[in-house]
Amino acid sequence: MIRIGIIGFGYMGAFHLEKAKRFDDMQVVCAFDTAEEKRQKAAEAGMRAYDNLEDFLKEELELAVICTPNQWHAQYAIAAMKSGKHVLCEKPAVMSVKELEEVIRVSEETGKFYTVHQQRRFDPDYRVVRDVIRSGEIGRVSTIESRVLGERGVCFGWRADPESGGGMLYDWGVHLIDQILTLYPEEKVTSVYARILSVLTPAVDDLFEVTMNLSNGVAARVNVGTFALQKLPRWFVFGDRGTLKLDDFTGTAGGAARIRGEVQGFDSVLGKTSLGPSRTMAPLKPEFLEKLELPEEEDMTMAYWQQLHEALLGKEKPLVTTGQILRQMKIVEAAFESSRKNEVIKKEI
Ligand SMILES: NC(=O)c1ccc[n+]([C@@H]2O[C@H](COP(=O)([O-])OP(=O)(O)OC[C@H]3O[C@@H](n4cnc5c(N)ncnc54)[C@H](O)[C@@H]3O)[C@@H](O)[C@H]2O)c1
Repeated sequence: MIRIGIIGFGYMGAFHLEKAKRFDDMQVVCAFDTAEEKRQKAAEAGMRAYDNLEDFLKEELELAVICTPNQWHAQYAIAAMKSGKHVLCEKPAVMSVKELEEVIRVSEETGKFYTVHQQRRFDPDYRVVRDVIRSGEIGRVSTIESRVLGERGVCFGWRADPESGGGMLYDWGVHLIDQILTLYPEEKVTSVYARILSVLTPAVDDLFEVTMNLSNGVAARVNVGTFALQKLPRWFVFGDRGTLKLDDFTGTAGGAARIRGEVQGFDSVLGKTSLGPSRTMAPLKPEFLEKLELPEEEDMTMAYWQQLHEALLGKEKPLVTTGQILRQMKIVEAAFESSRKNEVIKKEI
C-alpha cells in the first residue's frame, strides 16, 4: 500500500484525496490542517487529523501532498523530504528562485522527489493547441495568446493576501507559463516583458500580461484578469498559413482555418470590407479558405495521478521536474522585475 498524507485539507486537499482513492494500492491515511473544521472533515473521511506538522511527519508515508496557501510550500516540502517522504506540491511550487534552490538541494540530499501539480498540461484545450501547432497545418507560428479571464473581480481569502503568496501571477500565471514552456521544451526564453496590475484587489495583482519571446521567434503572451465582463478567446494562435482560435477549456469551441494555395495580396480584393475602406484587411474569398477539423482529445483527467503512481512505484520519473519548475520561477521573477521597471528583461531562461 502506498501511504499518503495531505497537508492543507481545503479545496485542493479534497481534490487529491479523490484522485488517490481511484487507486487500489494507495491510501490517504492522514492530514494536517491548522483549521479545526478541516481536521474534522479529514477525520470524517477516515483519516488521522493533525493540528501540527511535527506529529504529521511522524507518520510513515511515501508521499506528502502539500495543498496549503503558497507561502508554506517550501518549508513544508523541505521538512517532509527530510523526514523521508516524497513530495507532491501544489502550484506555485514556491515563492522565489532562492526558495526553490533550497528545495532542490534537499531533494538531492535526501533522494526524495519533489514534484509540482502542473496538471494543466493535460487540459484538452492545451493539447489541441499543441497538436495543431505541431501538425504544421497553420504554418510557422509567430504569436500565441493564452488567456484566462473571470468576472468575480476581487480575489478572495488568502489569494488577496501578499504574505500568503496571493495574486494571479502565482495562481493562474504559473499554469499558463508552464503550458508555454512545455509546448516548446527545446526553446529558451530570450526576454520577458510584463505588465502586472492591481485593479480591484489592492494588495495583489489581479490583471496581468506577460510576454515571453522564445529562441524560435515565437512571442507567447499570457494574460489573466479577474474582472472582464466580455469574452475573449482562451487561445489565439497566428501562423503564416492559418489561424487557430479556442474559446474555452473544452478544446472543441472555436476553430482553425488555413489558406488554400498562396496567400492573396490585397491587390486581388474588390469591394468593401466590414472594417470600412481597406484592401489590406478585406476578407478572403471563401474558395481560398480551408476549414480545419480540430483534433479530438481523449479524456486525461487521471493522467497526472497515473504518472505520479508510476513514479511512486519507481517505474518512472515524476512528470514535472525541478529543472522545469526552476525555469518557470525564473520567468515569474523576471515578469515582476519587468513590470516594476517597465523594461524588457533580456535573459536566457
Ligand atoms: N493545480 C491547480 O489547479 C490548483 C487549483 C487551486 C488551487 N491550487 C493550489 O492549491 C493550494 C491550496 O489552494 P486551495 O484553493 O485548496 O486553498 P484552500 O484555502 O481551499 O485550502 C487551504 C487549506 O490549507 C489550510 N492551511 C492554511 N494555512 C495552513 C498552514 N500553515 N498549515 C497547514 N494548513 C494550513 C487551510 O485551513 C485550508 O484548509 C494553493 O497553493 C493553490 O495555489 C492549485
